[in-house]
Amino acid sequence: MRLDIITVLPEILESPFNHSILKRAQDKGLVEIQIHNLRDYSLDKRRKVDDYPFGGQAGMVLQCEPIDRAISFLKSQRDYDEVIYTSPDGETLNQRMANQLSLCRNLIILCGHYKGVDYRIREYLITREISIGDYVLTGGELAAAVMSDAIVRLIPGAIGDEQSALSDSFQDNLLAPPVYTRPSDYKGWKTPEILLSGHEAKIREWELQQSIERTQRLRPDLLSESE
Ligand code: ADE
Repeated sequence: MRLDIITVLPEILESPFNHSILKRAQDKGLVEIQIHNLRDYSLDKRRKVDDYPFGGQAGMVLQCEPIDRAISFLKSQRDYDEVIYTSPDGETLNQRMANQLSLCRNLIILCGHYKGVDYRIREYLITREISIGDYVLTGGELAAAVMSDAIVRLIPGAIGDEQSALSDSFQDNLLAPPVYTRPSDYKGWKTPEILLSGHEAKIREWELQQSIERTQRLRPDLLSESE
C-alpha cells in the first residue's frame, strides 16, 4: 500500500509515522508513507496556501490551486483508490471502514486546516470524507495519523502476531475480552482460574462469553449494528 498525506503541518505527522507499528510496516516494505507539504505546491512567492473566505466570516480557507496541483501531481504518478479528506462532517471512522481501506493499493489523505478547504475541492476532487469522531480538532493531521494507524495495522504482516489484529475489539462488532499476564496473583488481585487451566477450548469459550458480556454492558449499540 502507498499512503500520500497532504498537509500544511508535516511536523505533526513525523512522530506517529516514525515509531511502533507504522514505522515497522514501512521498514518491512508493507506500506510506503509519503508526507507532502502543501506549501511546496503553492505558486505564491511566500508559499501562501490560504485566504480569507468569501462572505466575510472569520478564519482562513485553504485555496484550490495548491491542493489541486498536489493531487494532480500524485494522480499523474499512479491511480488512487480514494482521495480522503479529514473532516468532522465526514462519515465516522469505524473498524469496518478501516478493514475496507486496508485492502486499497494507493490512498491520498488531505488534512483539513483552519476553517477548512475551498468547498470546490470537496466537490471535484475528494472521493471520501472521514471523521474520527464527533468533536472538532484544530487540524486534520491527528485524524490522518489515527486513520493511518487503524488501516496500516490491518495489512497482513504489519503486527507480529496476525491473530491479534483479528481478535481486536470491534472485529465482529464485539469488544475484546480482558487480558492478564504474570504474576497470576498480584497483591491478592487474582487472574481468573480458567486462564491458568491450560484448557484451550474452555478458555476460548470463556473469552467469547466475556466479549459478549462486555459488549452488552459497555457498547450495546455494536450488537444491534451486527443484526
Ligand atoms: N478535523 C477536525 N476535526 C476532525 C475530526 N473530528 N475528524 C477528522 N478530521 C477533523
